[in-house]
Amino acid sequence: MNSIDLEEMDQSSLEKVLVLVHKYTGITMSVGKKTLIQGRLRPRIRKLGLSSYEQYLDYLNSHKNEAQEFVNLVTTNETSFFRTQRVWDYFTKDFLPSWTAKNPKKTLKIWSGAASSGEEIYTIGICCEEHRLRNIGFNYQIMGTDISSEVLVTAELGEYSGRSIENFKTSNRILFEKYMEPIKEVYRIRADVKSKIKFAIHNLFQIPVEQKNCDIIFLRNVLIYFDVKDQEKVLLNISKGLMNDGILIIGESESLNSLKTPFKYKLPLIYEKIEEDLG
Ligand SMILES: C[S@@+](CC[C@H](N)C(=O)[O-])C[C@H]1O[C@@H](n2cnc3c(N)ncnc32)[C@H](O)[C@@H]1O
Repeated sequence: MNSIDLEEMDQSSLEKVLVLVHKYTGITMSVGKKTLIQGRLRPRIRKLGLSSYEQYLDYLNSHKNEAQEFVNLVTTNETSFFRTQRVWDYFTKDFLPSWTAKNPKKTLKIWSGAASSGEEIYTIGICCEEHRLRNIGFNYQIMGTDISSEVLVTAELGEYSGRSIENFKTSNRILFEKYMEPIKEVYRIRADVKSKIKFAIHNLFQIPVEQKNCDIIFLRNVLIYFDVKDQEKVLLNISKGLMNDGILIIGESESLNSLKTPFKYKLPLIYEKIEEDLG
């Protein structure tokens, strides 16, 4: 059979793929996502010269390094600069001023746990940089993690074009021109903002090791991919990287309301860590 004419994925292969998606990422996908899964895997299967989804599953089971490729393919990495304006209003007008007033000598520690290709992290960086200009002595460090190695390559590069900057370019022109340097066809984030940021691979189902005592964690638009029990697991893990009374920010179609978590509601999309009882 010609590898270009890959047959439709059968029910048994689909079920095996869905089990592996959950095993490697924690993402719960229904059989209704068959077309999406096929579209994501097909180019990889062709590139490997294989001729069926079953062959690919064998390949995945017998090649350790393929697991990361698989993760890169099955994750959805949609993001943009200044996504959800309400979050940035809270961060710049409420969180940063009150944190700075309470912690004059500390370095603000920020973690984005589903950083994708970096747009969210650099938005945080730009907001912190603007705050630093008005608050002498303010210092910050930002960590961006994601399970996909592919998006982190783009994040490290810090060069953007197209959809992810469209809104930023038109609705925030002054900041855009100040922080995004045109390089041929793309815009590159300014080096001083980049120097405050580190990226690393991290699966939210693992307890954070590097990210300890953060003052604020951005965990936006990733919980939606997990079932209720897995959301609770991830939120417990995330809480271990956060200071007592630290802040958690989630995505606009997410809520912690009916979950058992160590967080309490503060404002829409904003939660506060409940202090651990050390007694
Ligand atoms: C839709 S993007 C959200 C990006 C950004 N936070 C935003 O709101 O614009 C979701 C990201 O979560 C990541 N992701 C999915 N499962 C993950 C897991 N188990 N651990 C860490 N990251 C994960 C994906 O790779 C993807 O980049």
